[in-house]
Amino acid sequence: MFSSQVAVVSILLTLVGAEELVFPPGFKFGAASSAYQIEGAWNVSDKTESIWDRALHTLPWMSTDGTNGDVACDSYHLWQRDIEMAEELGLKFYRFSLSWTRLLPNGFANKISEDGKNYYDNLINGLLEKGIEPLVTIYHWDLPQSLQDLGGWTNPLISDWFEDYARVVYSLYADRVKTWITINEPVAICDTAYSMGTFAPGIIHLESVYLCSKNVLLAHAKAWRVYDEEYKPLYHGKLSICNHWVWFEAHTEDDEEAAELSRQYSVGRYTHAIYSNEGGWPPAIEERLNAYNVLHGYSHPRLPPFTDEEKELVKGTYDYYGFNYYFSLMARRALPGETITPHYVAGIRELGIVMEAYPDLSPTLPPAFYKYPEGLRKHISWIREKYGDLELMIAENGFYSTGKMNDFDRMDYMHDCLEQMLLAITEDGANVTGYSYWSLMDSFEWNESGLKFGLYHVDFNSTERTRSARASADYYKTVIKNHALHSPRP
Ligand SMILES: *[C@@H]1O[C@H](CO)[C@@H](O)[C@H](O)[C@H]1NC(C)=O
Ligand SMILES: *[C@@H]1O[C@H](CO)[C@@H](O)[C@H](O)[C@H]1NC(C)=O
Ligand SMILES: *[C@@H]1O[C@H](CO)[C@@H](O)[C@H](O)[C@H]1NC(C)=O
Ligand SMILES: *[C@@H]1O[C@H](CO)[C@@H](O)[C@H](O)[C@H]1NC(C)=O
Repeated sequence: MFSSQVAVVSILLTLVGAEELVFPPGFKFGAASSAYQIEGAWNVSDKTESIWDRALHTLPWMSTDGTNGDVACDSYHLWQRDIEMAEELGLKFYRFSLSWTRLLPNGFANKISEDGKNYYDNLINGLLEKGIEPLVTIYHWDLPQSLQDLGGWTNPLISDWFEDYARVVYSLYADRVKTWITINEPVAICDTAYSMGTFAPGIIHLESVYLCSKNVLLAHAKAWRVYDEEYKPLYHGKLSICNHWVWFEAHTEDDEEAAELSRQYSVGRYTHAIYSNEGGWPPAIEERLNAYNVLHGYSHPRLPPFTDEEKELVKGTYDYYGFNYYFSLMARRALPGETITPHYVAGIRELGIVMEAYPDLSPTLPPAFYKYPEGLRKHISWIREKYGDLELMIAENGFYSTGKMNDFDRMDYMHDCLEQMLLAITEDGANVTGYSYWSLMDSFEWNESGLKFGLYHVDFNSTERTRSARASADYYKTVIKNHALHSPRP
């Protein structure tokens, strides 16, 4: 080849190579938080107790170190600094959640707190002034204790209470908030809470898992329909429920069925009713659980069936597909007589499936966090195979480390996950339109308060809760600015 041809070829190669690392035009980057984990101010003004306030004040096993979210990052007072950080990073959106008891002290919609309303007004307006879109999660686990006293997510009336709450929220903020998540991670709300007791309300009760699963879906659907009918014509926003953080891989080739059942059980149980054409529970899960019920002498299905009317109510209640991704587990069929240790989805025991960490991945930190970025791309393919070519948004993806400022492990994780996401977009043709890092800053991490996920370090020993950018904050900022992915390593 002549040298000019070589030059052309090498320019083309550079372009092709570079193209893979560039995010699609309009792709949005954000960072996330949730009310209980950052706001603090648990008892200011007329705010009442949430189930997390109650649990961490009264149940000793809920906290490894006796701390709670009473003050957390004190974002109730320091929200201006939070906006400043979002601006420093160049975020297109900031995902945060509303505290139900801060807005509706009674849990019911008969009284709106003036201070609660103003707090979120200020936050939303402050973000918009900086050109940052608010992405609002209506429910991120902090149920009013007053409603828990009535059975919480196991009481079928909760779907109406949630609908009322959502209607208040839209009436206050839908003019400015265009992207919504109704409910974050139902598997944590129903399964982790009621099967492990490690999340509020800290009750271990398997039947409650299934009542909760159905009620969460009905609550989401009713809230989605209120928006769709009353607010979408005016404001054209979009809503999704937000699912799950784990991808399940088959242990061996023979375990593909076990892996697929695990996906259907822990993801499909909260998506099939909404995104599938037929609605209702994933058939394989309904069948297996019913068989288990019969075998164990139950006269009613413990996973409550949907009526046809309920199926229609829930089906199609989405505008996009929001999900979180953190790590992956391996699934295999239990050996005869094998004891299955409880997991965050305890019902998996009824399916005779064992979930384990990847044998060839060592945990980066105790408790185990098995980094497997490829699981993100696989999860995306699974969603598209099941539900078609939806608009997808990664609403959380994050990594915890010991709290150090030079957090190369976090940057590597972000890089590797973003790379897998880009492969899903460029190679597989997935329409992923946004990515939100969890979390903007170190937060109060529920039953494991010491975990540090933040792009910003928070000094929890200082009354000022001083926030400082970690190296990962600078990395993310550059990725956002370039709208392209580069290695964090020199
Ligand atoms: C609010 O809770 C804190 C503990 O986090 C306590 O010290 C304070 O007295 C409480 N304030 C009110 C008004 O009850
Ligand atoms: C916190 O909850 C998670 C989810 O159930 C569980 O895996 C973990 O072991 C719990 N941590 C502690 C310290 O109890
Ligand atoms: C992705 O989804 C968005 C929102 O629905 C839509 O506007 C866009 O055209 C889609 N992009 C592709 C490549 O399908
Ligand atoms: C913060 O306080 C905890 C104990 O309350 C202590 O273990 C830790 O070292 C302190 N951190 C700093 C940076 O002072």
